[in-house]
Amino acid sequence: MKAVLVVGARPNFMKAAPLMREFGRRPGIEALLVHTGQHYDENMSKVFFDDLELPAPDIHLGVGSGSHAQQTARVMTAFEPVLEEQRPDVTIVVGDVNSTLACSVVSSKMHVPVAHVEAGLRSFDLRMPEEINRMVTDTLSRFCLTTCADADENLRREGVADERIFFVGNAMIDSLLFYLERAARSAVLGELGLVEGGYALVTLHRPSNVDDPAQLAGLIGVLGRLSERMPVLFPVHPRTRAVIDSANIALPPGEGVRLVDPLGYLDFLQAMRHSRIVVTDSGGIQEETTVLGIPCVTVRENTERPITIELGTNVLAGIDPPGVEAAIAGALDSEKRPHTVPPLWDGKAAGRIADVLERHLSK
Ligand code: UD1
Repeated sequence: MKAVLVVGARPNFMKAAPLMREFGRRPGIEALLVHTGQHYDENMSKVFFDDLELPAPDIHLGVGSGSHAQQTARVMTAFEPVLEEQRPDVTIVVGDVNSTLACSVVSSKMHVPVAHVEAGLRSFDLRMPEEINRMVTDTLSRFCLTTCADADENLRREGVADERIFFVGNAMIDSLLFYLERAARSAVLGELGLVEGGYALVTLHRPSNVDDPAQLAGLIGVLGRLSERMPVLFPVHPRTRAVIDSANIALPPGEGVRLVDPLGYLDFLQAMRHSRIVVTDSGGIQEETTVLGIPCVTVRENTERPITIELGTNVLAGIDPPGVEAAIAGALDSEKRPHTVPPLWDGKAAGRIADVLERHLSK
């Protein structure tokens, strides 16, 4: 079986790494890694290849940034000849970024079956580009590989036949569990003068939080007040950094809020594991904090990962700064919530994915 595995942006790399490792162990599988180049900065891409021991991409499409249409179109145009030449038995796409959508469309039109890792997640919010990417990708996927039962339900409700749905667990958690021990050797906390359990970790990059300078300034104000209780570590996504710089957003005085460049995978894992609280608008971090049992305040109106609220440590705060501030105070001042790790978030998802693909596609 020949597979093309597509990665494009930061949240894809930790889902692809366990798959590449698993495929490498199976003589019946030949896997080619294609990097679209949606993310290209050293600290958004290269450091993840190093930390996650991902092999260098076999093919790099080098598409870079642009509007949604431009970026998607560039990935499609560059990916088509790759499929022409390689003629794989399956294209594997992960997550919900523009590269995921672009490659599923190209692949389907060339009659190469698509396998979607992390299928079926829905925020039911079509203002999110990721929701559109998820819906289109799942509609086209022969193999909808899901992380939780509610994703299976979402797919069924959209008319996806049971034969296309495979509950395999969470490949991102494969990486988390695999690298936790190695992350413990990271020196990041010492370098930043942070003590275990004594700081907040923040990430913000969603358009709804960062594209409007007034909204972002409001959230940064909340972080300033939080920093009166504990240091706040804030690794800043390039999209967020661009708005802070161009709109000249005032940063809280003093050293309380530490804005640093995006961290690598192992440093981030270490920083997350030992934080007192995480404040984020990321999708993946809601899942990682659920497994680690770290209180997570999600700065969004909705989540495509409700299981992190039902079983995990996540709370939805909305995006209004006063509501976010109240949710943070609530999480800090109440007892830690009991949490359960969701079924099949056990470090073995990649093996189950490889089993599904081999069962259906091996010649
Ligand atoms: C993308 C994904 C989002 C994911 C996020 C994680 C889509 C629609 N969105 O959003 O789901 O949560 O990645 O990071 O695919 N930039 C750089 N260097 C880089 C990459 C981006 O400077 O290496 C800047 C560019 O100016 C670009 C902006 O960041 O315009 C946004 O990048 P883009 O890939 O369009 O989307 P993200 O906001 O990163």
